Amino acid sequence: MQELTELLAAAPGRIDAVGDLESLEALERELIGRESVIATMRRSLGSLPPEERPVVGARLNEAFTRIRELLAERRAALERAAEDQLLEEERVDVTLPLVDVPVGHRHLLSQTLDEVIDIFVSLGYAVARGPEVETSYYNFDALNTPPTHPARLESDTLYVDWGEPEDELVLRTHTSPMQIRYMETHQPPVYVVVPGRVYRADTLDATHSPVFNQVEGLAVDADITMADLKGTLAAFMRAFFGKERTVRLLPHFFPFTEPSAEMHVSCFNCDGSGCRVCSNTGWIELLGCGMVDPNVFEAVGYDPAAVSGFAFGVGVDRLALVRHGINHIKHLYENDLRVLEQF
Ligand code: DAH
Repeated sequence: MQELTELLAAAPGRIDAVGDLESLEALERELIGRESVIATMRRSLGSLPPEERPVVGARLNEAFTRIRELLAERRAALERAAEDQLLEEERVDVTLPLVDVPVGHRHLLSQTLDEVIDIFVSLGYAVARGPEVETSYYNFDALNTPPTHPARLESDTLYVDWGEPEDELVLRTHTSPMQIRYMETHQPPVYVVVPGRVYRADTLDATHSPVFNQVEGLAVDADITMADLKGTLAAFMRAFFGKERTVRLLPHFFPFTEPSAEMHVSCFNCDGSGCRVCSNTGWIELLGCGMVDPNVFEAVGYDPAAVSGFAFGVGVDRLALVRHGINHIKHLYENDLRVLEQF
């Protein structure tokens, strides 16, 4: 009994001193496990005189129950502490500022191309795309551009492969060859725009780049006139530039149109009074256009007596430069984020 009293007296202190669940289990084995003093005493109750058994038995039960209670309390406290620690460790501070993930956006040229296409789609035009490596036939011959035309010189055109017009390969110098490809595969009426990259043997300067973008337009129907061309282009320019810019149409020459014209827009920089950007003319050239030459219709098997049409090719890079007042075309191709992020 003496031993039991001591055991019971020491138990609360020992149990409280335990700092983790594993040590608590070891202590539990020691205090009330199969090999514990209490369990051993219980097993030997039978060797006591019968009148002492109930008294000692009751004391043993009391001690056992008390110690078990203390252990349970301590276990609960340790588990709570462990959980608190886990919560603390895994705590998420929802007030922390977000990690700044840079989000990209479409390139100014892609945005401009899409905008031009959208305007023509809203006017009922279809959209087609063609190869950037073209045969001389599609790039020149079918477009009424004879072998002697200066545009075919190596000083203007980038050749991929020399040969007969059908085999000779060039980097297309304009999107106009798609007029031919489209008419070869579609019957009139035709209303189509063709966006795409084109190439020239040009040296880079403020308004020229060896690669740039055009949108070609072609309308072929029973009674298309120059007035349709003018009205369509005016509607496009108004939609793209708004009311602030004025446009004008000037006579010009292209082998694949007759008559031919150029469309100019009033200079964004000087508003028409003349400055360095517009070479003191007050105007910036944006596109070539005209009424489709009968020879072009003949090349694709259309009857020039039955149909007429207009065509145009607009420089998309120029549109972007003029719209945003960008002073060098190189900014569209250098991919300097400090520039691109502004658009
Ligand atoms: N292809 C010409 C160029 O790149 C532009 C052009 C002029 C396109 C007249 C046309 C057109 O469709 O009718 O300079």
